[in-house]
Amino acid sequence: MSTIIDGKALAAKLRGQIRERAAAFCAERGQDVGLAVVLVGNDPASEVYVRNKIKACEETGIRSFSYRLPAETRQEQLEELLQTLAADARVHGILVQLPLPKHLDERAALACIPAEKDVDGFCAQNVGNLAMGRDTLVACTPHGVMKMLEEYGIDPRGKRAVVLGRSNIVGKPMAMLLLNADATVTVCHSKTKDLREVCSQADILVVAIGRAKFVTADMVKEGAVVIDVGMDRDENGKLCGDVDFASVAPKASYITPVPGGVGPMTITMLLYNTVLAAYGSK
Ligand code: GUN
Repeated sequence: MSTIIDGKALAAKLRGQIRERAAAFCAERGQDVGLAVVLVGNDPASEVYVRNKIKACEETGIRSFSYRLPAETRQEQLEELLQTLAADARVHGILVQLPLPKHLDERAALACIPAEKDVDGFCAQNVGNLAMGRDTLVACTPHGVMKMLEEYGIDPRGKRAVVLGRSNIVGKPMAMLLLNADATVTVCHSKTKDLREVCSQADILVVAIGRAKFVTADMVKEGAVVIDVGMDRDENGKLCGDVDFASVAPKASYITPVPGGVGPMTITMLLYNTVLAAYGSK
């Protein structure tokens, strides 16, 4: 029988700790922990994410500074705002919700966020630190996955880990974190040959490809730990993950559900990173 990893419960526990640390910061420094959230345009999914991030700040005593810019915002206007926030001592973390509208240069915009306020862990300095195994601000979703493994006593050391997906936001930092935790890591993507075969060797399988129920039981080793980062819709429009939970769960030793698995951890790790950034600030 597999154990279902309860991301909702772990997120609630961590948010309690974050609330305490945010309150302690305020007591010590006479200032709230602050997070600036920038949304450009009106992508419906991004609007939901941003709303949830701001709500999570309120619940944990983190002060949020919300900026909603119109879709036709020019690059200079966005960069000017980010530079202002970079210099604002009330703001310890800056988050630009992605994707940006097509006409904007995402890389140039993110480069305006100083590494110490980059609570998404996206900038080259933080990614480089992660690759070198140094303590740094780490991308929220893979960071949350590591917290889940830790909570359930799953040590990646010496295990074969397979990461399905190579995005900058999830797949690549996930692979780095598992490697830093002494796993033997393989990263698979759309051009990988024998995908089924590679996946079925994994002791830990992390799936982040954005295709509903892509991973089926025949791709999973008996007793594997299966982490599903997907947020998809099935043929009936119902929320589901990249893993076919019904067929894979009986084979897995541990598995994350969708919803209630990785999802609640992502925003939690954003708050966690924001508190870390605040304590790291002068
Ligand atoms: N868009 C999708 N995921 C993320 C995320 O983790 N951070 C930001 N800023 N944008 C996203």
